[in-house]
Amino acid sequence: MYKRILRPLLFLFDPESIHHFIVFSLRILLYLPLVRSLVRRIYTVDDPLLKQELFGLSFSNPVGLAAGFDKNASFINEMSCFGFSFIEIGTVTPRSQSGNPRPRLFRLPADKALINRMGINNDGAEKVVQRLRRSSPPLIIGGNIGKNTLTPDDQAMDDYVKVFMILYPHVDYIAVNVSCPNVGDISRLQDKDFLKSVFAELKSIDSQFGGNKPIFVKVAPEFSFGQIDDFIDLVRETGITGIIATNTRKERSNLISDTDLVDQIGMGGLSGNPLKDRSTEVIRYICEKTGNTIPVIGVGGIMSPEDALEKLDAGARLLQLYTGFVYEGPCIVKRINKAILRRSKEVRQST
Ligand code: FNR
Repeated sequence: MYKRILRPLLFLFDPESIHHFIVFSLRILLYLPLVRSLVRRIYTVDDPLLKQELFGLSFSNPVGLAAGFDKNASFINEMSCFGFSFIEIGTVTPRSQSGNPRPRLFRLPADKALINRMGINNDGAEKVVQRLRRSSPPLIIGGNIGKNTLTPDDQAMDDYVKVFMILYPHVDYIAVNVSCPNVGDISRLQDKDFLKSVFAELKSIDSQFGGNKPIFVKVAPEFSFGQIDDFIDLVRETGITGIIATNTRKERSNLISDTDLVDQIGMGGLSGNPLKDRSTEVIRYICEKTGNTIPVIGVGGIMSPEDALEKLDAGARLLQLYTGFVYEGPCIVKRINKAILRRSKEVRQST
């Protein structure tokens, strides 16, 4: 029903406006607790075989909503009805920022892809925390953090520390976004020594809070294997938890969509189907290189249960999706969880 009726209708409108419209409609639709629990029942696959105990957190299944969908923690409770076990809010910056001018989100239906240059638009850490305080989500919340675009690079550390400290008590894990392709030159932010000092500082604050809150770094699909090696060293040397692979990609090769259309859209990060293979390659590389000792959250182009299983086979412990949810509709989460469950049962029977 979603793909045949709803999606063609929704795709008639501007992607960003329709995103807000959907969220608004969901809020009304799911206002009644009875409707909310019914929707939750329809989309949730509840089975002990799907459960994952990882880095001190208990995930009811391996599928989460990727960063960028609910940047401001505005509709966690609504999205929690669709079968995800975790939602990563953000990217959140210390101060609010409006991002790039619209239009800044585009569809490439022929490729089952999106291009976005949102530019980390968000309400700022304090406001996001106010919302987190009000919601009592029945699932795990990750806080994806970044620096404000206008903060000079030499003050970037202050931004990371500030937003980390504000979000820390209100989220279950932290993801640091150093791979957004839409905020100008971020090469300094990917400098090895700079990143080491940032993550060492975040780890030290984490210890001061007395906690062991998982901290992840989110990497770009464009990183060379040499750069990925640096990120592996970074995780080992600073003691952070793991890597989220990957963010959207700048590169536009092998697209089916009309070249003029793609050129007209201009700059932005590509997500969805065309990102799938590279993202899986990065996940596989990290997992093989580290002998699966560094947890990887796999994200990028999961459009079907088969894509999800492929990412798990590459070594990902958890999965996230964004574009697949837009193209395939909410059923995709249930379909993925059912496929994982089916396979777990087969493996169990054969052993
Ligand atoms: C994103 N993504 C993203 N990532 C991040 O770390 N911080 C962010 O603010 C955003 N914002 C954002 C906006 C939009 C419109 C999209 C489509 C994506 C990237 C996202 O979390 C994910 O890494 C990629 O989209 C790849 O996954 P999918 O979409 O192929 O499943």
